[in-house]
Amino acid sequence: MELTDLIKKKRNGEKIAMITAYDFTQASIAGEAGIDLILVGDSLSMVIDGNDSTLPVSMEIMQYHTNIAVKGAKGVPVIADMPFLSYQTNLSDAIKNAGSFLKLGAKAIKIEGNLPELTKKLTSIGIPVMGHLGLTPQSVNQLGGYHLQGKDEKSAEKLLLAAKQLEEAGAFSIVLEAVPSHVAKLITESISIPTIGIGAGVYCDGQVLVYHDLLGLFDKFKPKFVKRYANLKRIAVDAIKTYSIEVKAGKFPDDKHSWK
Ligand code: KIV
Repeated sequence: MELTDLIKKKRNGEKIAMITAYDFTQASIAGEAGIDLILVGDSLSMVIDGNDSTLPVSMEIMQYHTNIAVKGAKGVPVIADMPFLSYQTNLSDAIKNAGSFLKLGAKAIKIEGNLPELTKKLTSIGIPVMGHLGLTPQSVNQLGGYHLQGKDEKSAEKLLLAAKQLEEAGAFSIVLEAVPSHVAKLITESISIPTIGIGAGVYCDGQVLVYHDLLGLFDKFKPKFVKRYANLKRIAVDAIKTYSIEVKAGKFPDDKHSWK
């Protein structure tokens, strides 16, 4: 799949399924499952690094995970999330940082907020941009927490305008996070590029979930919009518990797993 196919999917009414993945194994599993897009999200700050927000994650960490996710993605386009302060400081930093992800094999980058000028510049030099509007976690301190956005008419209109500006600037898609379904519907119907929702209802052109949330690997908290399709943490804990018991009882390794 190419990023240019996404707009065709929107036109044909075909939904787009995106998931985050942060390493070779996760990206391979996502690819084998037939996912359309892989996002190396800065959510790894929370689900991999154990931080309370996405703010601490660095370019080096994002580059490392992009590199190893690309190796497993095999044909599924990988989008790299630009971490906090990697694109907000100045244009030169933003271009170099964004370009470094493409050098590692990512097909595009994602930036949070309404940044049409930066989007225009990056797309003009061949760096495809995915926007991210609504709840933008890098602005958690400004937003006063992880809350629903676009609740009143004024803020919904602001979101719609921002989406139109990003489309005009050349973004190929926009993530809508934590906005009411009817607002996401209005935005989705008002722009020609696909919207990818997370906590934005069913009317978006596609959906994204965090790998560890979808598989039930992360249970520190669970936002309303997360659906756990499995409970892999329980399975992992049980498996490791059995291993530990068998080691302590002298049952592992048995003959089957030893050389005579
Ligand atoms: O970092 C991330 O995983 C994201 C998605 C939740 C959209 O930005």
